[in-house]
Amino acid sequence: MPVITNIEDLRRIYERRTPRMFYDYAESGSWTEQTFRENIRDFSHIRLKQRVAVDMSGRSTASRMIGQDVAMPVALAPVGLTGMQSADGEIKAARAAEAFGVPFTLSTMSICSIEDVAEHTTKPFWFQVYTLKDDDFMRRLFERARAAQCSAVVVTVDLQVLGQRHKDLKNGLSAPPKLTLKSISNMMTKVPWGLEMLGTKRRFFGNIVGHAKGVTDPSSLSTWTAEAFDVALDWKRIAQFKEWWGGKLIVKGIMEPEDARRAVEIGADAIIVSNHGGRQLDGAVSSIRMLPAIMDAVGDKVEVHLDSGIRSGQDVLKALALGATGTYIGRAFTYGLGAMGQAGVTKALEIIHKELDITMALCGETDIRNLGPHNLYVPQGFGDPTVPL
Ligand SMILES: Cc1cc2nc3c(=O)[nH]c(=O)nc-3n(C[C@H](O)[C@H](O)[C@H](O)COP(=O)(O)O)c2cc1C
Repeated sequence: MPVITNIEDLRRIYERRTPRMFYDYAESGSWTEQTFRENIRDFSHIRLKQRVAVDMSGRSTASRMIGQDVAMPVALAPVGLTGMQSADGEIKAARAAEAFGVPFTLSTMSICSIEDVAEHTTKPFWFQVYTLKDDDFMRRLFERARAAQCSAVVVTVDLQVLGQRHKDLKNGLSAPPKLTLKSISNMMTKVPWGLEMLGTKRRFFGNIVGHAKGVTDPSSLSTWTAEAFDVALDWKRIAQFKEWWGGKLIVKGIMEPEDARRAVEIGADAIIVSNHGGRQLDGAVSSIRMLPAIMDAVGDKVEVHLDSGIRSGQDVLKALALGATGTYIGRAFTYGLGAMGQAGVTKALEIIHKELDITMALCGETDIRNLGPHNLYVPQGFGDPTVPL
């Protein structure tokens, strides 16, 4: 067993163990992948202030996200097809998050259904909804999330149309994978993955098949997704979702102060500054660079969370010090899951927690809630995307 010390170690094992189609699905951004790369790169422009001779005993990374206690303010982001990275992947990830004391967010496009995840966990998780045209389906999704006792709904607003990832088209990405010569020959080299997958019934989109009109068998799903997303989505409709759901609502995919203000107006409990991990608008600014402007616009009115590009505890600390109350990891936990199943997700959380805790200590802080701009050196113009870095 290799010694795993960082998230990159998990990514390497994940790459070896998982069929190419699903690895590429996670490890790519849209078009030129500029935003995907810059999300990661831009964290490295921010430097930390080292402090010494400060009592670093009794440290705590515990905090709160939307009023819920968290062991550290790092949630698992909604990731579609998680159950293809490892058999029953959503259940494994949810269990790891629950044991660690951080929120798990289940994607609409998950393999395990809401009911399935609820049955295999003991604490409430969060549910992410895509904005679909079909009112009946949307209402039922909220009802199902309520019945499963989800404690928050995350509405993703940056996917009215789908950004293009070249590799997904070239690989013929599908769930379950289409059996072509190329996919079969690749899967034959991923024996443990294949054996686990043969041992589960969960290989289709669990929230959709059998629930959405006209999708009784998985073969009609691709037609359904192409037609189902609500191209006409507007803030009125998002407000309507808030009303239908009636509970805590987090708006995901905000990149501009003006949109952040609109989210506040419709009564969002939190917003997520996110460019979908560079998977939607290629050429968009990294989310960490947009955080200062969004904090200025709405930081005193709503909880501001951030994702896209987080690969370490240092990244988490930088986002928190710039004002975010919470962060999310997408790929970082997916690497862990693909590498080692539930234990791998736990490993990813442990790595990030350790990095966060030690970094916090070396910055001279003992309570994560005291982090602030005083812990950072931020380059001039960082929060102004017109200034080149
Ligand atoms: C493989 C993959 C699938 C994703 N699926 C969804 C999804 O179903 N719903 C959603 O709101 N965001 C989805 N996202 C975006 C994540 O929620 C999150 O915004 C992104 O992963 C954050 O960037 P990071 O991967 O650099 O941490 C997905 C991301 C990845 C990598």
